[in-house]
Amino acid sequence: MNPKDQKVMISPFAKEVTEGLTAFPKHLSSKFFYDEIGDKLFQQIMDLPEYYLTNAEFDIFQLHKKDILQSFDNHKEGFDLVELGAGDGKKTKILLKELLDQQYDVTYHPIDISENAVQGLSNDLKKEFPKLDVEGQIGEYFEVLDKLKNINNRKKVIMVLGSNIGNLLHPRAIQFLKKLNTVMHSDDLLFIGFDQKKHPQIVLDAYNDQTGVTAAFNKNILTRINKELGGDFDVDTFIHWEVYDPENGTAKSYLLSTKKQTVAIDCLSLDVHFEAWESIHTEISQKYDDDTVKWLAEESGLEITSSFTDANKYYKNYVFQKTK
Ligand code: AVJ
Repeated sequence: MNPKDQKVMISPFAKEVTEGLTAFPKHLSSKFFYDEIGDKLFQQIMDLPEYYLTNAEFDIFQLHKKDILQSFDNHKEGFDLVELGAGDGKKTKILLKELLDQQYDVTYHPIDISENAVQGLSNDLKKEFPKLDVEGQIGEYFEVLDKLKNINNRKKVIMVLGSNIGNLLHPRAIQFLKKLNTVMHSDDLLFIGFDQKKHPQIVLDAYNDQTGVTAAFNKNILTRINKELGGDFDVDTFIHWEVYDPENGTAKSYLLSTKKQTVAIDCLSLDVHFEAWESIHTEISQKYDDDTVKWLAEESGLEITSSFTDANKYYKNYVFQKTK
């Protein structure tokens, strides 16, 4: 096989590890946190008392479900509800129940890259809400959205929950929103959650929990390198480190090597050297305020039509439409 062909076969994960661990400073993308173990650890994170995001969004839905649904479809003309990265649907179920109770005409499309997630949720919903029309879609967000773009001429409401956008730096968040804009028709809406700026200690605690689940979640990317790329990371020689910059609202996660060491990654024929206390940057979890969200929307050809927050004002869900 010539080297050119070899390059084509390299997985996105292998590419990321090669680039990120030969760069200075070192980095690895949080995109790769979510293997089977990573999914389970994230489920545990959502149940942590410190991880306020899930509860806040849950509270928002419970407090404002009627107004939220009115903002989606004020005249009950019917719509398609498309959720990107549906997960276990715990929060969405509040809205789905209300949609059924109020006899909205809706089809729910959970989209996920994981067939397991979509199948599991669809079966679960069939039992809990037999009357709900569910059409799950497996695939990359934008491929599926492209397919959904012209399935019918009903209004679409696209949901992106959990402040998932917070993993993107602003320029990439704008790219993401612009792309969503291109699959929206003029009356379609985007319903999207943004975690808000708050007391820095609350943010730090959310990403640095007492029980160490977040540390395990962060370190799992090293375990994944060991398993999938033949790495020999001793994960116990790394610690999880979280910082929060209140000026720009960015929480950043790192893994720090507690000693000078060299780690071999067999499948990449790579030796990675670490100085004592050298860092690998793994994740950002951006926090927002209204001005920043307004700016991101404007940069993407979108505008805010309404927003909903929890009693603590920790978190906000915004409704965006295409700029008229
Ligand atoms: C799923 C991206 C919203 O950044 O808050 C949780 C992931 N990382 N704890 C977040 C995460 C550490 C989470 N998002």
